[in-house]
Amino acid sequence: MVATKAKIVIVGAGIAGLTAAHRLHAASHNLFDLTVFEADDHIGGRILTADFAGDRIEMGATWIHGIEGSPVYAIATEHNLLEESSCIWERMDGFPSDPLTVAEGGFTVNHDNLARPILSLYRRLMDDARTGDATSADRDPSVRAYLRRGLRQYQAACTISNTALGNDTLRLQALEESLFAMEECTERTCTSADNLSDLNLSAESEYREFPGDHITIAKGYSRIVEHLASALPPGTIRLGKKLSLVEWCSGDGASPPVRLHFSDDSAVDVDHVIVTVSLGVLKAGIGKEDGKGIKFDPALPDFKREAIGRLGFGVVDKLFMEVETESREAFPFVRLAFRQDLEEKASMRHASKIPWWIRKTESICPIYRESHVLLAWFAGKEAMCLESLDDKEIICGVHATLDGFLPSNRAGCRIASVKRSRWGTDPLFLGSYSYVSVASSVDDLDLMAEPLPRGKGDEVPRLQILFAGEATHRTHYSTTHGAYYSGIREADRLLRFYNDSEQLEISVDAILC
Ligand SMILES: Cc1cc2nc3c(=O)[nH]c(=O)nc-3n(C[C@H](O)[C@H](O)[C@H](O)COP(=O)(O)OP(=O)(O)OC[C@H]3O[C@@H](n4cnc5c(N)ncnc54)[C@H](O)[C@@H]3O)c2cc1C
Ligand SMILES: *[C@@H]1O[C@H](CO)[C@@H](O)[C@H](O)[C@H]1NC(C)=O
Ligand SMILES: *[C@@H]1O[C@H](CO)[C@@H](O)[C@H](O)[C@H]1NC(C)=O
Ligand SMILES: *[C@@H]1O[C@H](CO)[C@@H](O)[C@H](O)[C@H]1NC(C)=O
Ligand SMILES: *[C@@H]1O[C@H](CO)[C@@H](O)[C@H](O)[C@H]1NC(C)=O
Repeated sequence: MVATKAKIVIVGAGIAGLTAAHRLHAASHNLFDLTVFEADDHIGGRILTADFAGDRIEMGATWIHGIEGSPVYAIATEHNLLEESSCIWERMDGFPSDPLTVAEGGFTVNHDNLARPILSLYRRLMDDARTGDATSADRDPSVRAYLRRGLRQYQAACTISNTALGNDTLRLQALEESLFAMEECTERTCTSADNLSDLNLSAESEYREFPGDHITIAKGYSRIVEHLASALPPGTIRLGKKLSLVEWCSGDGASPPVRLHFSDDSAVDVDHVIVTVSLGVLKAGIGKEDGKGIKFDPALPDFKREAIGRLGFGVVDKLFMEVETESREAFPFVRLAFRQDLEEKASMRHASKIPWWIRKTESICPIYRESHVLLAWFAGKEAMCLESLDDKEIICGVHATLDGFLPSNRAGCRIASVKRSRWGTDPLFLGSYSYVSVASSVDDLDLMAEPLPRGKGDEVPRLQILFAGEATHRTHYSTTHGAYYSGIREADRLLRFYNDSEQLEISVDAILC
């Protein structure tokens, strides 16, 4: 009997795939024949640090969402990634405590009397949703219905004390609508849900965030994945290898049981594959369109296809703008309160020169005080439109927005060049991150994580196809640390499997199927 090493392939060199590879390599003392196949020409996936107009920027993951207990923070501190003497970086100075809130038309909104109370209302509502103290509105289980009911109740309470204001009450309420909609726009970019009517309120209470500061990484987020990759033996990661088809055990006893086909017509036979591609790529694979996503033969079982189909996966993009100003003052951190009545009145919408795709952008701000690089976030349909425009059209739209909001700053201020992400159209992602839609539940995230084939009764599942990635984590989905945990989880699943000597022998005999 010749003892052959079990062959494990990881598909995708994002943080989930690299974490799984790192863990398997560190824990198994070369027990496995391990390869990571990545379709792109670089590692990192949705973690991508870049340069623009002399500044370091993040095209994808930007924040460590709470530092206390975060494994990403642990890597960053261990490898000294949080300090940088020679360079400046995105949000190195955190968020300003007193951003300038401007309403469409160009007047500044009083922060203490107007902007702050609406922000507090919104925060209280979302905190209640997170702690499970929220009840959904009427029969509508969405976050939007819940938030809107909260605003109506707030305004009803205020109107009673404001009746003396007459028509001013209506103007005040219109402004509150604008400010509240601005906060809802941040929720769109945080969750990637195009329409908050599609975001499941009761799932919010299961979502977990780490306590402590939210910070960015001085040396760039990409350094996190580079550290994970650097511990792997040379040659472990194969770039430019796009998986197109997974043939897995249909019970014919093939050995090893899984055959992976790549777009360059090559194929490899493996004992186990850990699939870490985005939920968007998995959705494309179960869709009808040929050549998109990854196909499975036999097809994925119903429970898996249904979870993939139900969960939400939206688009979030970042637009960076190089600004040239004659003014000596730094460009302000501006929050944009768009008029909401224009949304309903199509005729007025035409009168506004500001294009529709920018009307759900919550802020335009320098990436740190004094930077000449400005940033705006986009989500949903607006993000997809942004991806399709050429640079000139984008610049034109941004100029119209500045005209409408900052008429006085506009003199001598122009956008010279832009750079934006295209996560929605990139065939290797087809979106940005996942959310629990009203059609789904957090249980679907657990179904995403289940390996295949499913064991029957007491039978130990044979672990052919395993799933990791952001969209497989029940409480930390949509984040880098959620993806990291999922990589650990699937590596440990395989380690447990081989820790059992009986399984080891089976593998040695290579009769897994
Ligand atoms: C704009 C944006 C902002 C974000 N901001 C934050 C943030 O501030 N904080 C935070 O924690 N998270 C943030 N995220 C989310 C975070 O980036 C992701 O959750 C995380 O990086 C996902 O890692 P992953 O390994 O699961 O997937 P991915 O990074 O998508 O890795 C999967 C890999 O599979 C590859 N692949 C795809 N198809 C194939 C194929 N057919 N064959 C071979 N390889 C393939 C891809 O190229 C990719 O490298 C943000 C994401 C975006 C897009
Ligand atoms: C309120 O607005 C309406 C319509 O613009 C106007 O006719 C009315 O006189 C206004 N009332 C007050 C109290 O200003
Ligand atoms: C959001 O979804 C709701 C319910 O499906 C719909 O009525 C509404 O028009 C949608 N909003 C937008 C901006 O698409
Ligand atoms: C929303 O999520 C919860 C918890 O995950 C789930 O029980 C419920 O079925 C989901 N759907 C709706 C419409 O509430
Ligand atoms: C392997 O088994 C040993 C002994 O049962 C146990 O202590 C160890 O934690 C296991 N390792 C893994 C990765 O499961």
